[in-house]
Amino acid sequence: MNRITSLFGITYPIIQGGMVWCSGWRLASAVSNAGGLGLLGAGSMHPDTLREHIRKCREATSRPFGVNLPLMYPQIDEVMQLVADEGVRIVFTSAGSPRKWTGWLHERGITVVHVVSSSVFARKAEEAGVDAIVAEGFEAGGHNGREETTTLCLIPAVRRATELPLIAAGGIATGAAMLAVEALGAEGVQIGTRFALTAESSASEVFKDYCLNLNEGDTRLLLKKLSPTRLVKGKFLDEVSQAEDAGASVDELRTLLGKGRAKRGIFEGDLEEGELEIGQVASLLKGKGIQTVAEVMKELTGEYEERLSALR
Ligand SMILES: Cc1cc2nc3c(=O)[nH]c(=O)nc-3n(C[C@H](O)[C@H](O)[C@H](O)COP(=O)(O)O)c2cc1C
Repeated sequence: MNRITSLFGITYPIIQGGMVWCSGWRLASAVSNAGGLGLLGAGSMHPDTLREHIRKCREATSRPFGVNLPLMYPQIDEVMQLVADEGVRIVFTSAGSPRKWTGWLHERGITVVHVVSSSVFARKAEEAGVDAIVAEGFEAGGHNGREETTTLCLIPAVRRATELPLIAAGGIATGAAMLAVEALGAEGVQIGTRFALTAESSASEVFKDYCLNLNEGDTRLLLKKLSPTRLVKGKFLDEVSQAEDAGASVDELRTLLGKGRAKRGIFEGDLEEGELEIGQVASLLKGKGIQTVAEVMKELTGEYEERLSALR
């Protein structure tokens, strides 16, 4: 038991990060059923779809689960109301300021966690009154901090900046990494990449196979002028990289990105035209094949215990 497991009422301090096009009710409920905390990724869902996923998740697990809401979501007022009306108890906010919504969610009895990429943002989240913080290093899959602070540097800095319960994210895919971030001051982990590539993730099998065969250096943080995103090697990464080298403006990058690229890449498995997002740590999973959530959770917790006794 620690502050993270008691805050959420879970067995292991392992959170499955909300992930566009990956974390629907199947993934979230599987993680919760295995003793972690599953999060529905609202970022890629229309409000009606989110409602459906919340209801299905509740049918599939009697354990706690939550919703990740990126604060730049276009109909944010509508989804906040929906989440409250549907009785969701835990919300992880990201990609925006938690100032506006934290109090509102608290008034409705909802636990609020905010994702940050620096100790400055961690302090702001604490001022906003959040219950816990996810500090995410720039190794992570998805959208990232501009400063490119690694998990190894970020966790101790955030630990110094706030006494709030702290969850580490970015580059964690093994029990050994869980132990390492605990040594740095984290009390739990948020894992994205490893869960995005499990059987229960709604990402395309083509995307999963591609990401399970990457080498070191096959992902890069690009689109920093727009919204820093860790992209996987391929045609779209090459196009963005060339445009950026040629000094492309924000508008030019926005046009290049267009609409629906992440869906094409992650959900539809279009390796040519799609935007492919995964974390650096994917290369550590090379050759593992697609595992179930139960297998991943067993490996994570088993390896954590082994490493802990080996260190002792
Ligand atoms: C495909 C993909 C999509 C993601 N989408 C979101 C999202 O919608 N909201 C969010 O807060 N984080 C998102 N993330 C970040 C994860 O929630 C998590 O914090 C991150 O993946 C942790 O680092 P790791 O990939 O090294 O495990 C995404 C990550 C991936 C790989």
